[in-house]
Amino acid sequence: MIVLRSDEEIATIRKAGEITALVLEKLKKCAKAGMQTKELDAIARDEILKKNGYPAFKGYRGYPANICTSVNDVVVHGIPSERKLREGDILSVDIGVKFRDYFADAAITFGIGKISPAAKKLIEVTEKALYIGIENALPGKRISDISCSVQEFVESNGFSVVKAFVGHGIGTRIHEEPEIPNFGPPGVGPRLERGMVLAIEPMVNAGTHEVEILEDGWAAVTKDGKLSAHFEHTVAVGKDGAEILTGK
Ligand code: MF3
Ligand code: CO
Repeated sequence: MIVLRSDEEIATIRKAGEITALVLEKLKKCAKAGMQTKELDAIARDEILKKNGYPAFKGYRGYPANICTSVNDVVVHGIPSERKLREGDILSVDIGVKFRDYFADAAITFGIGKISPAAKKLIEVTEKALYIGIENALPGKRISDISCSVQEFVESNGFSVVKAFVGHGIGTRIHEEPEIPNFGPPGVGPRLERGMVLAIEPMVNAGTHEVEILEDGWAAVTKDGKLSAHFEHTVAVGKDGAEILTGK
């Protein structure tokens, strides 16, 4: 069942989303070569708690950290660790915040220092794919119209969409119905309606779409070792389009 949220509920998710956006911005500013990813995790935890939010990933299905930090060929769910960031790395940061019983979820990818033109293009295409998906989250359209628009844009730029992970509904749980793949034909799946709150999250690989899970049971890496990027926003479907609740 897909829950339709009231304006009041959406206002609370917007607050969770504001915290998420603030913390992502802060991490983007302070991530530097030489820093351990677990330092970013600690900063995120402190900032979220300071804003009266709660780090939603911590303990979710046993997840051991507050945020996900996925470097280079890590697609998603990288566990913050002693790994030091290096000049030229690309880093995806994924954050979930709970605020008064409601959740928001967002992710960004950015470079550490100077990055290659190929890495820059991958990041730009992935971010643009997210905004194209959001533009297609219109009432009356179907879920797969989002999926299809993302896939078409990504593949027309020579990259591949990850199929092993999908976007999702969000609200009083971090993952709710419906699933939102980043691939597929248009015009199938549930019809979008005002009040649906969705986490749209393209994961885009420079090479093969195939991924594998590391021994830690969490981190997903590209099978060919090439780079991967991830952007995510939580949005609310309104009568004229989707409102981004986790930033701009
Ligand atoms: N944004 C991620 C997703 O929707 C959340 C990761 S969940 C955690 O899949 F398990 F890593 F916490
Ligand atoms: Co998500």
